[in-house]
Amino acid sequence: MIKAELQEALNHQINQEFTAAYNYLGMAVYFDAKNLDGFANWMRMQHGEEMEHGMKLLRYLQDRGGLVKLETIESPQCEFSGPLEAFEISLKQEQKNTESINKLYELASKLNDYATKSHLQWFIGEQVEEEKSVEDIIALLERIGDDTAGLLYLDDKLAARKAEITE
Ligand code: FEO
Repeated sequence: MIKAELQEALNHQINQEFTAAYNYLGMAVYFDAKNLDGFANWMRMQHGEEMEHGMKLLRYLQDRGGLVKLETIESPQCEFSGPLEAFEISLKQEQKNTESINKLYELASKLNDYATKSHLQWFIGEQVEEEKSVEDIIALLERIGDDTAGLLYLDDKLAARKAEITE
C-alpha cells in the first residue's frame, strides 16, 4: 500500500499532467483558428502525450492500491500574441513539470518507495525530450521573426508529427 504523502503527491502530479494536456489543447485551438494546421497538429499530439502521462500515473496509483482523486482543471489560455508566446508558455510549463517530477522522485526516495522511483525514471527521461523539443521550436521561431515564408515552412514541418506509442 502506498504511503498517504506519496499518494497525495501523485494525485497532484496527475492533475498537473491533465492540466498540461488541457493547456496544449487550448494552444491547438488557437493555432487552428489562425489556419496554422501544422502547429495545431503538433499541439494536439502534445495534448495526447500529456493525457497518456496522466493516465500512466493514474493507473500506477491504482496498481499500488492508492486512491485516485481527480482535482479541478482550470480553463486553458486560447489567445496568444503569436506562436512564439505560445511556445514560451509551453516551455515554462514543461520546466515546472520537470521540477515537480523531480520533487516527486525526491519524496519517493525519502520514503524508500523503490517502485515509485522506478516508475518515475521514465518521466525523468521524457521531460528531457519534452523541454528539448519545445526549445528547438522556440529557437526556430526566434530566427524566423516576422518572415511569413519561414513560419509557413515550420508549419509544414510540424504537420509531419505523428502520435508515438509509448507503452
Ligand atoms: Fe507530461 Fe510535458 O510533461
